[in-house]
Amino acid sequence: MTMTLNRALSDYVPGYALPQVFYKDPDIYQAEIKKIFNTHWLFAGHISQLPNIGDFFTLDVANESVIITHAPSGELKAYINICRHRGSRICLEKSGSAKLFTCPYHAWSYNLDGDLVAARHMDDDFEPSKYGLHKVWLKCVGGLIFISLAPTPLSTSDMFDNLDDLFALFGFGALKLAQSKRYHIPANWKLAVENYQECYHCTPAHKEFAQIHAMAQSPKEFEKAKQAFADKSDIIHREHNAYFGYARDGQEGYQYGRNPLRQGKLTGSRDGKALAPLLGNLRRFSGGASEFMLGPVNFFLIYDDHMLGYRFMPIDADNCLCEVYWFVNESAEEGTDYNLDDLTWLWDVTTQADKTIIKNNQLGVNSAFYQPGPFSQMESFEQSFIDWYIKTMER
Ligand code: FES
Ligand code: FE
Repeated sequence: MTMTLNRALSDYVPGYALPQVFYKDPDIYQAEIKKIFNTHWLFAGHISQLPNIGDFFTLDVANESVIITHAPSGELKAYINICRHRGSRICLEKSGSAKLFTCPYHAWSYNLDGDLVAARHMDDDFEPSKYGLHKVWLKCVGGLIFISLAPTPLSTSDMFDNLDDLFALFGFGALKLAQSKRYHIPANWKLAVENYQECYHCTPAHKEFAQIHAMAQSPKEFEKAKQAFADKSDIIHREHNAYFGYARDGQEGYQYGRNPLRQGKLTGSRDGKALAPLLGNLRRFSGGASEFMLGPVNFFLIYDDHMLGYRFMPIDADNCLCEVYWFVNESAEEGTDYNLDDLTWLWDVTTQADKTIIKNNQLGVNSAFYQPGPFSQMESFEQSFIDWYIKTMER
């Protein structure tokens, strides 16, 4: 552990925001890459993005790039996007279809199973079998694709044991990616994740969200709305909190819960009316939305007729990328069953607003006068994230 990280950890006061150094220091940032981004499961995309053999897309994970592809066996596979010759990036496109991945530098070629199948003018004793692409762990949750850069990935067995039936209910395997957008945020990635964890800012910053989600009210009013709404006999209403700090050792953290929308609202739309056909095996609109999380930077918000995927990824100590995915039922046709403008309105306007407040947060945190302030009771989930973060960095 570096001196800077050691000192920073001992300076941290529980119940308060993090000291400045955590949002700026390049050594702490590198330690986070190792302990968090190269250790935990990361949401990569959905099976509907790779329908045919050879389809691929790439995902940037801090210093790394990963190729995710549909192999001839039908399985999805993931590889580190570097050539085993002298280390060039191989795949330069964000997505496409390929029979071989050919390195642009000296043209070593790899098949979809990651085997090196052509290397020009090498010595006779050269053994191509020793130079396959580095493999990356990949796991599908329903149809959601997760990858892990860990040598041995965290187990997801607790999550599957508890939530498998919900993935079928919401039809995770029968979704279609309707839209995805990238929001570059000039701030440390933790400020973005922290912001996503709390709704203390919802009333002042998100008037659109506050009109639709009961969560933006005071904790008392929200609790009342939640009590009135939850039907304990319905599997959709259960809660599992094995998230930040609550996961068993060796298991990936996850969380599931359901929250009410405002009276009369069916989904996250301008007028509260339906945006698209119901997801999966849902039979009616229930006036709520579910939250699902797996791993520390991947969040899903499941309305009855569409689902949002959120992923926060660092670019460097002062910049991060928030990528938002909008999913609908795979049978839904654009223009007939939904339109993109209406579908993406709420979380585009909300994410733009978040981008601004997170950017301003970083500007303030950079000040010589910044001192961490205390959390409100409406920031309890953010507090859990910070507690988990401190424990993770101490390890
Ligand atoms: Fe890829 Fe040389 S670095 S072929
Ligand atoms: Fe927000």
